[in-house]
Amino acid sequence: MKSRIEQLLAEVEAFAGKAAGEVEEFRIQMLGKKGKITALLEEFREVAPELKKEFGQKLNALKVAASQKIAELKARSDEGTAQGPTIDDPTRPGHGTASAAGTRHPISLVRGEILRIFDRLGYTVADGPEIEDDRHVFGALNFPPEHPARDMQDTFFIEKDILLRTHTSSIQVRVMETQQPPIRVVCPGRVFRNEAISYRAHCIFHQIEGLYIDEGVSFADMKQTLLHFAREMFGEKSRIRLRPSYFPFTEPSAEMDVSCNLCGGKGCPVCKGTGWLEIMGCGMVDPNVLTACGIDAEKYTGFAFGMGIERIAMLKYGVGDLRLYFENDVRFLHQFDAAV
Ligand code: PHE
Repeated sequence: MKSRIEQLLAEVEAFAGKAAGEVEEFRIQMLGKKGKITALLEEFREVAPELKKEFGQKLNALKVAASQKIAELKARSDEGTAQGPTIDDPTRPGHGTASAAGTRHPISLVRGEILRIFDRLGYTVADGPEIEDDRHVFGALNFPPEHPARDMQDTFFIEKDILLRTHTSSIQVRVMETQQPPIRVVCPGRVFRNEAISYRAHCIFHQIEGLYIDEGVSFADMKQTLLHFAREMFGEKSRIRLRPSYFPFTEPSAEMDVSCNLCGGKGCPVCKGTGWLEIMGCGMVDPNVLTACGIDAEKYTGFAFGMGIERIAMLKYGVGDLRLYFENDVRFLHQFDAAV
């Protein structure tokens, strides 16, 4: 046994494999499950007690020598193959591989701009869930059950009474249920309608709706507020006009047009030659809605309005296809760098 130990020690000392594979092979040969040193260690159990001390020390020395040699050679071969960066001069400028800074999405930009205009008029921002119940989207807003007005907005239903909100008027219901007038809120949010996707319609879009309720609020107040908004948003020279319309939750109701900011009202392709752009729905809150939400309709009146953010952004930036907002093509998004 003594001579075999000495022979293996010589073998270990002589070994000079360089490649990582060779070193590993050598380790298996020596220290692996069926390795030569492992076999000797097994045999050692049978050695006569009086020889144990001498053989044990020698065997241990062999094992340590083999492990050290292998570790050393492995470390060297790893160094040779590692691909890590070598730092030659840490004071040199970087490689310029840092990723480009992002920009804000045009929808966020326009939402921020609209909210700031109403913030200056004293409106606060209210939020609400995207998954809503029938009452908050339709019931409390004066849509009777089975009423055809429910078809104005093609709805995604989750269960019979649970749906994806089709407008952020649902947030206004939540505000009226929990607060008493004076109420002055704007409600931004994502809304969902089951519509075929095209350059001018999408099944997901964003709205901002507003609500003002107090004693003695009149149609004239609404008109002046919306004129102020149009001038802030589209320029000092903007004019507005209100056309009669219908919504179950407002009476009277109107569509608001703003004079085309591209041609100044003379007529161009964007306004289809009319000089006007339709930008929002509005009206005086129907007393039935106030009553359904626990507000005294004898004492208070109010107005509401709602607009699509995509549409305002299209008009403001001349975007011709609504789908661009959802594709997140950086070439499109980078055009708004300067607007941030
Ligand atoms: N909720 C309406 C819509 O989504 C917009 C609107 C809001 C109209 C408030 C009038 C008053 O189409």
